[in-house]
Amino acid sequence: MSEKNNLTHSNNRSSFTSKIGFVLAAAGSAVGLGNLWRFPYCAAKYGGGMFLLLYIVLAVTFGFSLMVAEIAIGRKTRLSAIGAFDKLKAEYSFVGVLASLVPIIITPYYCVIGGWVLKFLWSYITMPANQVAATNTAGLTLFEQLITSPTEPIVWFLLFLGVTILVIAIGVEKGIENSSKILMPILVVLIAIVAIYSCTLPGAVDGIKYYLKPNMKDLSVKTVLSAMTQLFYSLSLAMGIMITYGSYMKKDINIETSVWQIEIFDTVIAFLAGLAIIPAVFACGSPENLKAGPSLMFIILPQLFATMKAGRLVAIIFFFLVFFAALTSSISLYETCVSIIQDKFKQKRTPSIVFTFFICIIIGLLASLGYGPLAMITFLGMQFLDLFDFLSNSVLMPIVAFFTCIFVGYVIKPKAVIDEVETNGVKFKLKKLFTIVIKYVAPILIVIILVASILQAFGKISM
Ligand code: PHE
Repeated sequence: MSEKNNLTHSNNRSSFTSKIGFVLAAAGSAVGLGNLWRFPYCAAKYGGGMFLLLYIVLAVTFGFSLMVAEIAIGRKTRLSAIGAFDKLKAEYSFVGVLASLVPIIITPYYCVIGGWVLKFLWSYITMPANQVAATNTAGLTLFEQLITSPTEPIVWFLLFLGVTILVIAIGVEKGIENSSKILMPILVVLIAIVAIYSCTLPGAVDGIKYYLKPNMKDLSVKTVLSAMTQLFYSLSLAMGIMITYGSYMKKDINIETSVWQIEIFDTVIAFLAGLAIIPAVFACGSPENLKAGPSLMFIILPQLFATMKAGRLVAIIFFFLVFFAALTSSISLYETCVSIIQDKFKQKRTPSIVFTFFICIIIGLLASLGYGPLAMITFLGMQFLDLFDFLSNSVLMPIVAFFTCIFVGYVIKPKAVIDEVETNGVKFKLKKLFTIVIKYVAPILIVIILVASILQAFGKISM
């Protein structure tokens, strides 16, 4: 969701018009495919209950502290990531640059997945639910047919990217944003209904147990790393976005309360998406799908909708709302890329929009074709889309998060952030927790996780 739309242009820098405006805009950016598509497949793949537990623990400690820090840095400097780090300490401007690379990698492949969502929306509009769930004569599911096709993923990707750019170019983000205030709550209700349905299917109990009951055997470096990176991705952290949002935030808004609101909203949606999908994996009698990865949602939901009364209608509304949530996030991502290019290369808005488009096309085409015609090209065993996801989430984001913690903990000092939160006599209730997490817990955790996962990747340890 573009922050510019909820803004007034009074003082030197525009700011959000209402208190709730900030939270809504930030939540619109946060809630997207990360919650609905990425969270369930990561939870399924990395041990269900243990993943969920780690995610929640990290959200209330690490996620909370990092989001407070980023918003405070933005509000203090009134600049976006690159400028903010530069202004506070020039030696750390590289953190802003690294952070900026993240949305440039994510935006294109985000649009590829947005395209998959559009394909399913269209399929339910034109086909009955049991046909969407069926396999073709070669035994391929609709999803497999889609991603292995040399043309189809490109068409849907271009369509999703086209809608994103259209919204930005003709400047109707405001309308999208207003609609999302109505559509997002409907999405929450619909996912809750689908989750309840999924949990009541025969055989779902094993899935509910798997999802809610942490099992010590699932505690591994991989699980912690994936919970941490999912947290960054879902909350739009460690990529400079919350710094930008903070730069538009008025001084009289309570940062701490806003962060809790965004976190709760984001986590509830992700949790419900997991509850809709994971029990259904068991109910469909295919626990091997737990390891399916990015395809999970597109394999399981069609099977679920096929068993549901009025499944086709529910599916149409569902995929429409997912598309909408993805669109508000892709607009936010695209806008971020545009402003990075504007700031960094001193370009005007239109050339920056066009330049971002070309980057999206190159990376997006590789991601679109990575499971089909380009499937023979892999890096460390990963297809293009998985590789881009890995580079941005598992490599760049932890590094950015680490340096942000060091920067706040030891360069500008936690007090700078605390003072910003406490502007106007507001009390920062959890400032002790914040200080300990930012100075010690988070940086140490990131280093351990990164070193262990590198050692693991090179086969030095098994965890
Ligand atoms: N947080 C979004 C999601 O969960 C993704 C995103 C990241 C959107 C960064 C905007 C900026 O889908």
